[in-house]
Amino acid sequence: MSTDHVLKLYSKTIQSSFLHYGFWDDPENVELSTLSLQDIKNAQYRYIDHLASFIPSGTKTILDVGCGIGGNTSFLLKKGYSLEALSPDSYQKSVIKKKFNRGVAFHHCKFEDFTHRTLFDLILESESVCYIDIDKGFKKAREVLRDGGYVLASDYFVFFKDHSNSLHFKSSHDMDTYLNSAKENGFNLIKQYDQTDNTMLTLDYANYFIERFINPTIDYGVYSTNKNFPKISKVIGLFIAKKWQEKKNQLDLINSDLFRKYRKYMIYLFQKV
Ligand SMILES: C[S@@+](CC[C@H](N)C(=O)[O-])C[C@H]1O[C@@H](n2cnc3c(N)ncnc32)[C@H](O)[C@@H]1O
Repeated sequence: MSTDHVLKLYSKTIQSSFLHYGFWDDPENVELSTLSLQDIKNAQYRYIDHLASFIPSGTKTILDVGCGIGGNTSFLLKKGYSLEALSPDSYQKSVIKKKFNRGVAFHHCKFEDFTHRTLFDLILESESVCYIDIDKGFKKAREVLRDGGYVLASDYFVFFKDHSNSLHFKSSHDMDTYLNSAKENGFNLIKQYDQTDNTMLTLDYANYFIERFINPTIDYGVYSTNKNFPKISKVIGLFIAKKWQEKKNQLDLINSDLFRKYRKYMIYLFQKV
């Protein structure tokens, strides 16, 4: 199975054990230019702390679906739950093996293809919902949960579409389709929480960082190459122009105004009926 190199890049640069947006208690009062990497890591810790508050009492066994590099698994182990973790990603597999040294059973597969040996009280999908086929995901959840068990899902969903062909439509599930599939597969929605306001600051910080550090560095690199190697620079420019534009368009994905226009970052707690 392969490695998601974008997720690997996040884990190597931020160097936290989480791969999600983080949760900001008071985003209105944060000044972007004063934020440190530690603030981002603290927000990521608060995200799982807040998400874990939705775990119903009586829950003992949890399957962490799309476990990333194990931050949530580790947090929940410390809270006394019994955990198994799952990810199709080869890099994440190596990190998890090292981190837990066989202390946590790890399943190296897509959730849709998971074969279970025991039944779980709760399935956690922390920012992994958007990677999993909606219908197959709920069918699999039914199969691996005990009667009355729970799916705790935290991810972004598209609630509005226009004719803009926005990239925001491509990397998330449609909210209504997701909720309807839950119902059709025998899951009751028992709690929900809109955490859009608590998560967007991370996108704003990414934008700030790119505008302040990355873009000026690129501008200088282009200026310097044009000046010192004008011919080579022209040829390279012709080759990469299209790809470069595609990459620039992807910046729409970290535009929090566009995010808010089309998507909501939700927590859903479903119970198997
Ligand atoms: C954005 S990361 C979130 C990681 C972690 N849950 C967290 O909150 O830090 C998405 C995770 O979903 C995993 N994933 C991708 N496709 C999947 C699938 N079909 N089934 C289960 N997990 C999947 C990725 O490998 C990664 O571990």
